[in-house]
Amino acid sequence: MATFLAFCGSSRKDSFNQKTLDCVVNALQAKGETVKVINLSDFKQPIYNGDEESASGLPEATVRLQTLLHEHDALLIGCPEYNGFMTPLLINTIDWTTRSCEATPDLSCFAGKPVLITCSSPGPGGGMRAATHLKTMLLGIGSIVSPDNFMVPSAFNAFDESGKLKDEKLRQRAEQVASRFRELTIKLLS
Ligand SMILES: Cc1cc2nc3c(=O)[nH]c(=O)nc-3n(C[C@H](O)[C@H](O)[C@H](O)COP(=O)(O)O)c2cc1C
Repeated sequence: MATFLAFCGSSRKDSFNQKTLDCVVNALQAKGETVKVINLSDFKQPIYNGDEESASGLPEATVRLQTLLHEHDALLIGCPEYNGFMTPLLINTIDWTTRSCEATPDLSCFAGKPVLITCSSPGPGGGMRAATHLKTMLLGIGSIVSPDNFMVPSAFNAFDESGKLKDEKLRQRAEQVASRFRELTIKLLS
């Protein structure tokens, strides 16, 4: 059985990207898969700085995150868009977790690992520009990025009060993306 880890580049309380990610997480869980959802606010890391890394090593939150990343077979990443790019929180998380205790690169948390990207924004673009940058970054560190992604545009009107998607077609799309990502992950593990 594959294990999935999900996290989002926004730790905002009412994050649209967390809700969007949750749609795919719920669909995977409904298929019997184990998905651990973490909030990056529980893994506070300073902005990466090479001098601090040399002096103090990896922050303890980075070590905890790396352990979780190693323990799971596949990742789901919610990618908010700031100025057409990924959020500082998401970039900083990936930067720290691609470092070793010896202050050298270590891509083992991501290399060879299937990743599904989800995104959402209040605008019509749904955060796809940032998602494209994240895909490029992940491919560069050896991840196997799913050709599918799940995007929710016009986020202010997309969810009901319980956080469920109002649009039936989008709900179906979340299930389809979850099924295909599950199949991809199982194929890569076999
Ligand atoms: C600094 C900043 C830049 C933003 N730039 C964009 C943008 O380029 N495209 C976009 O669709 N939304 C942009 N937004 C709006 C965000 O998509 C919106 O705040 C969204 O709710 C953030 O994700 P979250 O709900 O998961 O926290 C920006 C927001 C901020 C704070």
